[in-house]
Amino acid sequence: MAFLIDGKKISSQIKDELKTEIAEMKKKGTEVTLAVIQVGNDPASSVYVGNKKKACAYIGIRSLAYELPESTTEMELLTLIDELNNRKDVNGILVQLPVPAHINEKHIIEAIHPLKDVDGFHPRNVGALVTGEDGFVSCTPAGIIQLLKRSNIDIDGKECVVVGRSNIVGKPMAILLLRENATVTICHSHTKDLKEVCKRADILVAAIGKPKFFNRDYIKEGAVVIDVGIHRNEQNKLCGDVDRDDVMDLVSAITPVPGGVGPMTIAMLMYNCVEAVRLQKTER
Ligand code: GUN
Repeated sequence: MAFLIDGKKISSQIKDELKTEIAEMKKKGTEVTLAVIQVGNDPASSVYVGNKKKACAYIGIRSLAYELPESTTEMELLTLIDELNNRKDVNGILVQLPVPAHINEKHIIEAIHPLKDVDGFHPRNVGALVTGEDGFVSCTPAGIIQLLKRSNIDIDGKECVVVGRSNIVGKPMAILLLRENATVTICHSHTKDLKEVCKRADILVAAIGKPKFFNRDYIKEGAVVIDVGIHRNEQNKLCGDVDRDDVMDLVSAITPVPGGVGPMTIAMLMYNCVEAVRLQKTER
């Protein structure tokens, strides 16, 4: 029977470790502050932003909430980011994505100071990830590495297949696995024989964005499967990119949806906020 990788438990451990670390920092007079900006009131974004604020409150990070109207112009948003970039009491800046269509997402990502970019989306941080220098790593892939390590799953020398090539998940995931000495393949919609490539994987990271896409035809016996997808099915129940019932007897370990990768994203955002204080001390 497959081992269920408990993202809820592992994310709680990480948050508790950070809570202790932040309490120690406070004793020495250092406060950690995250500015969270939401433009418009997309309901899914409001839920994510609410969860980020809750996590901050739990671990002792001060959060500054900026809820801006949908009509906010790109210039107004850039002006706020500039102000926050210059504030010494702000360590991290997060603009919840997506932003409204009249705002250019790339301009926003590039405007955030790389040392405050706790999402790890700025090209400077992406570059640092590739070259192995200090910087912020995108939270979901960083969380997946923690899930594997804290479940004692060896990555070194393994065949890892990442399905999905987004800037937020697929690409940084592949680089992080490479950094752990895995042999990495990135697949996408143009990949020929996707089933055959996935079947080579000791560790399969499923981030294709299609509900229950991966069944047992894609999976090697004994593989570890990381399910990044999150969807609502016809019965309004949450499911992932993997058809878990179909693969359960085949895999050695798998992340559930919900309660697998999802909770790790916020835990790693919190980690990046603490890392921000460290990086700002050494590089500013
Ligand atoms: N929208 C969905 N996921 C994310 C995330 O990790 N960071 C930001 N800023 N926006 C998102």
